[in-house]
Amino acid sequence: MCGIVGYIGDKKVAPILINGLKKLEYRGYDSSGVAIFGDNNLDVIKCKGRLSILESKVLENMPSGTMGIGHTRWATHGEPNDVNSHPHISNSGKIAVVHNGIIENYLKLKEFLQSQGYDFKSDTDTEVVAHLVEYHYKGNLIEAVIESINEIEGSYALGVICSDCPTEFIAARKDSPLIVGLGKGENFIASDIPAILEYTREIYILEDKEIVHLTKDDVKVYNIHGAEVKKEIFNVTWDVSSAEKSGYEHFMMKEMFEEPKVIKDTISPRIENDKIVLDNVSISKEDLDNIDKIYIVACGTAYHAGVVGKYIIEKLARIPVEIDIASEFRYRDPLISDRNLVIIISQSGETLDTLVALKESKKRGAKILSIVNVVGSSIARESENVLYTWAGPEISVASTKAYNAQLAALYLIAFDFAYKKGRLDEATYKSCIKELKSLPSKTEEVLANKEIIQKFASQHYNAKSIFFIGRGLDYALSMEGSLKLKEISYIHSEAYAGGELKHGTIALIEKGTLVICPVTQDDLVDKMISNIREVKARGAVVMAITQKKNKDMEKTADVVINIPDIDPLVAPVIAVTPLQLFAYYMAVEKGCDVDKPRNLAKSVTVE
Ligand code: F6R
Repeated sequence: MCGIVGYIGDKKVAPILINGLKKLEYRGYDSSGVAIFGDNNLDVIKCKGRLSILESKVLENMPSGTMGIGHTRWATHGEPNDVNSHPHISNSGKIAVVHNGIIENYLKLKEFLQSQGYDFKSDTDTEVVAHLVEYHYKGNLIEAVIESINEIEGSYALGVICSDCPTEFIAARKDSPLIVGLGKGENFIASDIPAILEYTREIYILEDKEIVHLTKDDVKVYNIHGAEVKKEIFNVTWDVSSAEKSGYEHFMMKEMFEEPKVIKDTISPRIENDKIVLDNVSISKEDLDNIDKIYIVACGTAYHAGVVGKYIIEKLARIPVEIDIASEFRYRDPLISDRNLVIIISQSGETLDTLVALKESKKRGAKILSIVNVVGSSIARESENVLYTWAGPEISVASTKAYNAQLAALYLIAFDFAYKKGRLDEATYKSCIKELKSLPSKTEEVLANKEIIQKFASQHYNAKSIFFIGRGLDYALSMEGSLKLKEISYIHSEAYAGGELKHGTIALIEKGTLVICPVTQDDLVDKMISNIREVKARGAVVMAITQKKNKDMEKTADVVINIPDIDPLVAPVIAVTPLQLFAYYMAVEKGCDVDKPRNLAKSVTVE
């Protein structure tokens, strides 16, 4: 996720910016840059790659200014390269902008600004902000920023400086984090506390649509209407390591708490006037009519997202879907032709088996659509259509928020394909979109219930073997729940389709065996209740995850984790969170290294 640092004061700003950016490296980045005011103009230094490259460029030609902004970029719009790196500069060279977030209406704004003679140099959404601020700038920088953000749709944390205004800079935020650090004769902005902790422990935490005017001696915060807002000072007591995790004990927990945001970031830029518009994807109705079968290919957690994808694409678009593990697919001489669409799913975009499966499919003439989290990664570069998940960098080895974002992307694809194929009438299509929009707030409700799961885990962390049982989409979820538990708590576990129990597995159920049952599919609730009764009759302890409306579950399972009432079709997006929390708390109780489980790597670039 992009990182922002800004400083205004009496000290040389370059080392402060570099130092602050180093403290934000944990957020993940692919390029970095600084803009520093000195000698009546802005010095901009930026480049692709490690921060050490930027540092040596800055040291070579150390700007002497005492005000500036710095940025580490995690690419969203436009691949990682020098030009796309931030800061972005307006055409006159007067305005410099750093940004974290996604400007959803950037194409519309870009067209308008081009019609006003502005020349664009990068592929980013951010560059529109630099030109827009310049367009509105009539000598008052804060007014220009307020006018600009009134026209911007999407999420942003912004730092804006102007060479006409060497004693002030402006920052603003909506749906992307930004804090202000309060010093003596100096002030700061940053995406996150670690960047400024060395200089001050007094901060303002900005709320959505707040705009800040900073000078070296003063900080004023305004709302979007220009009225001043009185802020309370927050005194930071955390050390740097907990500050990196925003106070959470582990990155995994921090990332689970980012799920509402990543779901929103993945969905909302793709909904325009109540219609799904998939950027970077050109698959028309005619293309879909020419497709006999879709293959979904991925590994691990991404594969489990694909299993949900199979169910929903088949159910909604009525196109046959085969789901494959990449390492199997690549060696089984798959029956792929130009009448197939291959959907590749990968968080890192670098998983070797998945990449080779993609290349193999391409060679055989298939159309490719990839769901990828890392812009410019190998899989993204190889794919003719890429739907990015906007989950930001995932640091914990066990994938959580990226899975939710993959599901969100798959729902967009399923609804879009079904609509194009004429399988969804207008009213159903609209209600599907409404359900998608409700997912972030419903995920927040799920996260708020974490203590019940924590308590259950504290009572059962010594379990030797745990079963996950579900039907339909809940079976797909069970696979992911089981993997999460295994990888971070090292407890053996298996996922079974409810109907398979009787065909062998039930022999393993004995007194005290833990069984976890997601039960979110209305038409299968009764079947699952029977399964739960069967295992309970043999002594199992059952934790069920179900919608609030399924009151009978209280009488059936030992512990019930309620999720908000939700259309069963989209339930996996929110019902996976209790499973992730369960795995997390089991691992914590066992004293495991949650973020770095043994034997595992975040990106598997070998066979
Ligand atoms: C599990 C996990 C892995 C990955 C798998 C694929 O928590 O993270 O199972 O899902 O290695 O990785 P990507 O999605 O990067 O291709």
